[in-house]
Amino acid sequence: MNVLHISAECFPIAKVGGLADVVGALPKYQKEIGVNSNVVMPYYNNKFTANNSFDLIYENAIALGHDYYNFKILKLKDSTLGFDLFCIDVPNLVYKEYVYSNDDTKRFLAFQIAALDWLLTLNEQPNIIHVHDHHTGLIPFMVQECHKYAALKNIPTVLTIHNAQYQGWFSHDSVNLIPPFDFSKVGLLDWKGIINPLAAAIKCAWKVTTVSPSYMEELKQGANGLESLLSHESAKCVGILNGIDWNVWNPETDKMLKQNFNHTNVITGKKGNKKYLCEKFKLAESKPLFAFIGRLVGEKGADLFPQIFEKALAENDISILLLGSGHKETEARLANINNKNYNSFIGYDESLAHVIYAGADFLLMPSRVEPCGLNQMYSLRYGTIPVVNAIGGLKDTIIDIKNDGFGICHNTVNVEEVTHAISRATEYYKNKKVFQKNVTKVMKINNSWSNSAQLYVNLYKSLQQTKK
Ligand code: GLC
Repeated sequence: MNVLHISAECFPIAKVGGLADVVGALPKYQKEIGVNSNVVMPYYNNKFTANNSFDLIYENAIALGHDYYNFKILKLKDSTLGFDLFCIDVPNLVYKEYVYSNDDTKRFLAFQIAALDWLLTLNEQPNIIHVHDHHTGLIPFMVQECHKYAALKNIPTVLTIHNAQYQGWFSHDSVNLIPPFDFSKVGLLDWKGIINPLAAAIKCAWKVTTVSPSYMEELKQGANGLESLLSHESAKCVGILNGIDWNVWNPETDKMLKQNFNHTNVITGKKGNKKYLCEKFKLAESKPLFAFIGRLVGEKGADLFPQIFEKALAENDISILLLGSGHKETEARLANINNKNYNSFIGYDESLAHVIYAGADFLLMPSRVEPCGLNQMYSLRYGTIPVVNAIGGLKDTIIDIKNDGFGICHNTVNVEEVTHAISRATEYYKNKKVFQKNVTKVMKINNSWSNSAQLYVNLYKSLQQTKK
């Protein structure tokens, strides 16, 4: 079976969030179980494309409304990713230093049209087209409705929703950018009077998955306007929990760590990494270290961090370290925290993130929305105890110590609740024997992709047997 993943992000080529990690790992695990999964993504002007060689395998022009743009399909020469990587270069449009900006409608339409134009020319077409989030959400519609793609119509399409907050809305004035289709079908593109690529994908894809079972249920109550659509389409929707790349995220071999370790020497291994962090960020090594890694946005609860941190630091003998960037106002408020037990790195640094997973004692994830969340799984693998709001994927992966589990959960996101969870964690840390036993235990929890990769393959197989 040949599966083509089409995505805006893929690790390590271009990463903004967890979408990249999923698309960079899932195909490898699908290959291991006998499915030929490969990836198509935009060709960005970034470090990865500058430092790697590509073969030009196809070249043509696409029509975007009345304009024509040349495009190239470039295949990565190096085969170490574990799957074939095809990048679509549309000079001056897709080829930019950034992944997302305010010209996304045109850029991602160009990308999607070029991808399908190219698929039409292949001798062997994929058996499944798997698209991710709204950036590639017009593909199921185009395959089904656009006259020029009639030859692709019988290829089953799967949409995975990594985050339903963003839907790619654009005005009906731009509908002519989409290749011609029977205009009586324009309603498939529309949701509440505007073109909505995510809604179009939910309507047209053969199957819709979300990245955790709980998130699937939550979306029926809160999906930024798509609740009734998801309830209506629920028969073809299923939640499949993400996994993590077990080889990339391995504290025993991770080259970014200051000291490698496994479950047999985790206590000393973590100490070495904590020492490095505490020296670098001038924090006291003896205190329990709480960390946050991620985007500073409302979904992650970041607007409350300044208040939470001040209160938690006043009430507990702890240190807090933050790595991330996002809303400027939150960044400015965090910069005003004047406490010797708090420090931050505003920006993103993959190596530092790895050391924090390894050196921190607790990872904070007070997310208001968390479709899956990968950070809690990375932290478990590195022996760091997650302190999470029990929603979405966090609910599906973390069990509270009260219930015989291994993490700290709270059920609401406000200053009181999160601070209370931090205090519970601090108390828990005091009993060294129990705490260290738990650290060793969480490292052994298997959140690798192996299980979920198989669930996706089962889903693909079920589609091959169905006629739509
Ligand atoms: C998005 C979600 C996150 C999920 C990731 C990968 O970034 O916000 O929860 O883990 O996608 O699916």
